Amino acid sequence: MASKKLKIAVVGLGTNGSMHFKQLQHLDTVEIVAAADPLIEDRKKTLNLENISFLSTDYHQVLAKKEIEAVFFFTPSSQHLENITAAARAHKNIFCEKPLSKDGTIAECKKALAEVKNAGVKLQIGFNRRFDPQFKQIHERVEKGEVGTPQIVKVVARDPFVIPYDFIKNSGGLIQDFTSHDFDMLRYQAGSDIAEIFIESSILIDPKLAEFNDVDTLTASVKFKNGALGLIDESRKAVYGYDQRVEVFGPKGMLKAENVSKSTVEFYNDKNVSLKKPLDYYLTRFEEAYQEEKALFVKSILENLPIICTGEDALKAMCCSNAALESQKTGQPVKVQY
Ligand SMILES: NC(=O)c1ccc[n+]([C@@H]2O[C@H](COP(=O)([O-])OP(=O)(O)OC[C@H]3O[C@@H](n4cnc5c(N)ncnc54)[C@H](O)[C@@H]3O)[C@@H](O)[C@H]2O)c1
Repeated sequence: MASKKLKIAVVGLGTNGSMHFKQLQHLDTVEIVAAADPLIEDRKKTLNLENISFLSTDYHQVLAKKEIEAVFFFTPSSQHLENITAAARAHKNIFCEKPLSKDGTIAECKKALAEVKNAGVKLQIGFNRRFDPQFKQIHERVEKGEVGTPQIVKVVARDPFVIPYDFIKNSGGLIQDFTSHDFDMLRYQAGSDIAEIFIESSILIDPKLAEFNDVDTLTASVKFKNGALGLIDESRKAVYGYDQRVEVFGPKGMLKAENVSKSTVEFYNDKNVSLKKPLDYYLTRFEEAYQEEKALFVKSILENLPIICTGEDALKAMCCSNAALESQKTGQPVKVQY
């Protein structure tokens, strides 16, 4: 007997949504029955939407379809809270991209999460890096106690180039768009919530970012609730590729994930040693993580298993982003308000 496929809808088919959509087309535990995007006619030119039985410019029409069991939102960050609330009210399970919200207050976020709880549906937020095989291995080995209780957790997160201004303007800035991933990674690896954050940031790469009240270079120094310390080092442009590394140091040793390259072959001669550059961008570096996060979300619904990256995790990342923004403004360490 063929196993059950989850009937799903995909909402938002831009840069990130297109990548997710193509992966979902190959996920054998789902059947994509609907898709929505205000630009759906344009999206038909670049995506194969022929077999999707219902297409719309309005995602509310998708939510009204009874047979749909889960909705995947790859919409702009400013819409996430509204999307989550509407989908919960329609009793759909929800996968939504990060962050939980761009402009919403913590009270508004808590209200949306209460709607999810009342509806009894599952919600997963797209902090995909938790699902990266290297970072996940570090997490599991820390949990097994291989380095003892973490004392220092470090994250390096550097983009290969400054992303388009049109996206940056509506992204909520470096802290909400990028650093929120890294706060989540620090919590995930340290096994403790972040208590206090101190931010230093600069414009060292692209002066135009000042027009959007944004920065391109940032360090965050954090103290966890259990006393451990954390560091984030972030840049909008690393000339050698997409630089993503994680390190956890404890009394019994260190676990460290280096960059991933296309080839592990290194070349040595009398002048130099050379190795392949890191993979070029998030779409390639985290391809496996993006597949895994969606596959596990679907599995958690089909087999009623716990969600790995919950709305509450995303709320905590938002609380950290708020403290970080306050620290950036005041130049002082700021306690995180949960
Ligand atoms: N987890 C990650 O690594 C990662 C990476 C990139 C982007 N993202 C997140 O993904 C989201 C989308 O980013 P993007 O780069 O694809 O942006 P994008 O602007 O390229 O795409 C957004 C898409 O949503 C559509 N849209 C807008 N309003 C809509 C609505 N009401 N209903 C349905 N569709 C609507 C737009 O037409 C567009 O096709 C953002 O929240 C971003 O933070 C996450």
